[in-house]
Amino acid sequence: MDARTHPGPRRIALMNQKGGVGKTTTTVNIAAAIAELGTPVLLVDLDPQAHASLHLGVDDSSEATSVYDILLDPTEIFDAPIEVKPNLWLLRSETDLAAAETELSQETDRYARLREALEAVEDRFGFVLLDCPPSLGLLTLNGLNAAQEVLIPMQAQFLALQGVGKLLETVQLVSQQLNPDLRVSGIVLCMFDGQTTHAQEVVADLEAYLESQRETETPWRGAKLYQPPIRRNIKLAECPSFGQTIFEYAPWAPGAADYRRIAEALLAEHGGAPSEPSKDDASAPAAVEAGIAPAEAQHAEPVEQAEADHPAPASDAGSPRADEREDGAGEDEPPTPEIRVMPAEHAARESDAERGA
Ligand SMILES: Nc1ncnc2c1ncn2[C@@H]1O[C@H](COP(=O)(O)OP(=O)(O)OP(=O)(O)O)[C@@H](O)[C@H]1O
Ligand SMILES: [Mg+2]
Repeated sequence: MDARTHPGPRRIALMNQKGGVGKTTTTVNIAAAIAELGTPVLLVDLDPQAHASLHLGVDDSSEATSVYDILLDPTEIFDAPIEVKPNLWLLRSETDLAAAETELSQETDRYARLREALEAVEDRFGFVLLDCPPSLGLLTLNGLNAAQEVLIPMQAQFLALQGVGKLLETVQLVSQQLNPDLRVSGIVLCMFDGQTTHAQEVVADLEAYLESQRETETPWRGAKLYQPPIRRNIKLAECPSFGQTIFEYAPWAPGAADYRRIAEALLAEHGGAPSEPSKDDASAPAAVEAGIAPAEAQHAEPVEQAEADHPAPASDAGSPRADEREDGAGEDEPPTPEIRVMPAEHAARESDAERGA
């Protein structure tokens, strides 16, 4: 059976090139909640910072096979996942993972290695969640190639909206050049403070934008804003230092309640297929009203260009080069919409928010 149509686990990459937005906190605690609700989950820590591994109490002293080992030899996968909690398995990271970029730079299958490895063990799990580093390079591209879905953790801030536009563009490029099945399933708002006018306006803009995309052929046409937003909650920031999830450290805290509800939403839709696109794109006017507008249709930049626009740290630099791709993708690609925020309108709103409006 084609692995792409395999009914196996939902493979979800949690990705945002912006740092510190809540990717790891969200990956760990959604994974923990799904595991607690009885479904086996594999969390793949793709970040050389190894924060997800540390959050789950696994540090560099572990002798377990890491993502680094897997990228060098995908057949090492079979004994690699560690069961860190009941139903919760970790494919750990280590600081050496930063070297994979350079070490694999000459390998033609370097973006497909994680996918190959995960396909060999995926029948053990109901969900595979991939915690991506805050950059676009070999590690994130392996994650996006191994995933079927992208879940975007972000903060409800004006500048974050602009980042999401670029991020969607990146997903488009990856779907065109590496993984045609990749879809954006949605956005999880992190560190949310619903009391501010600014946050409410960002939410309204996001909702309107996503709604305006329903009839497009983009990988995010089925994306939704997951509910609830994750409230800012100090307990979520404290629990990693104890190697505990929020459900162990403070199961009564708002952070636990919020992540449990997101996990329930994901479980409820398990097995659902993204809606089919319509040929008509009626999105533009609504998107403009929402303050986020697709730019003029333009030819897609290759993934390497996207990376040049968002340079990766040395630990995660590199991307598929258009001239290295065997399928010739990148030569004559369909237009890639670009999302951009209407700055004037938002600037006015921001200053309103600052004045406490
Ligand atoms: N809802 C929340 N309330 C309070 N603190 C939070 C919340 N979510 C995340 N944090 C804290 O914010 C910081 C950044 O979160 P996190 O590490 O999850 O982001 P990240 O996107 O994975 O970062 P990086 O880009 O470095 O991988 C951490 O200290 C984390 O504990
Ligand atoms: Mg992280």
